[in-house]
Amino acid sequence: MPTPLTIRGFKVYQGLVDSQSQEVLVSNLREVAKAAPFFHPVTPSGKSMSVRMTSAGRLGWVTDQSGYRYQATHPDGAGWPAIPDIARDIWARVSGVTREPDCCLINYYDETARMGMHQDKGEGSFDWPVVSISLGDEALFRMGNVARGGKTESLWLRSGDVVVMGGEARLAHHGVDRIRFGSSRLLPKWGRINLTLRVVDQG
Ligand code: SIN
Ligand code: MN
Repeated sequence: MPTPLTIRGFKVYQGLVDSQSQEVLVSNLREVAKAAPFFHPVTPSGKSMSVRMTSAGRLGWVTDQSGYRYQATHPDGAGWPAIPDIARDIWARVSGVTREPDCCLINYYDETARMGMHQDKGEGSFDWPVVSISLGDEALFRMGNVARGGKTESLWLRSGDVVVMGGEARLAHHGVDRIRFGSSRLLPKWGRINLTLRVVDQG
């Protein structure tokens, strides 16, 4: 395994996923999106999020007026498709744990999409890392602190980069400030896909 860049406890494996695997993963995700179409999530306060979202795995992450949660079905009522093998292999290589992820959240960023600073804290247990895989256009990823506010550091994530948020970074705030639309040729109509693999313990 290559040595990751460590920034505020976030481990960044630059270029971990080779271009052929990225292409296969994108075609796998196209199948996932046929079975579980991308939707525009709405926050509990009624704001429409700028990313489009779907999931794969035993559980998917959803948000609507009744709150944020993991659930076994897509908003249209169907079960979620399986997590693509390439994503599970990446998890096995970098997560440092033998347990399989329960959820692969799939976010699509178009030209204007962003993700405000937040913590991933709906998983029930924080003993497991969250593994993020970037595909397509570059994204300016901001890494902060467990507490709100304070200093942050930013890094452009490129297609094939993998970030592990574990240990001290597991509950750190993070977000995406902007996308360099058209910077990658992986996706035919540009934009960025981010996968986050998570263990969910709903006790
Ligand atoms: C997320 O925090 O859910 C997404 C992070 C990213 O898009 O890189
Ligand atoms: Mn997150």
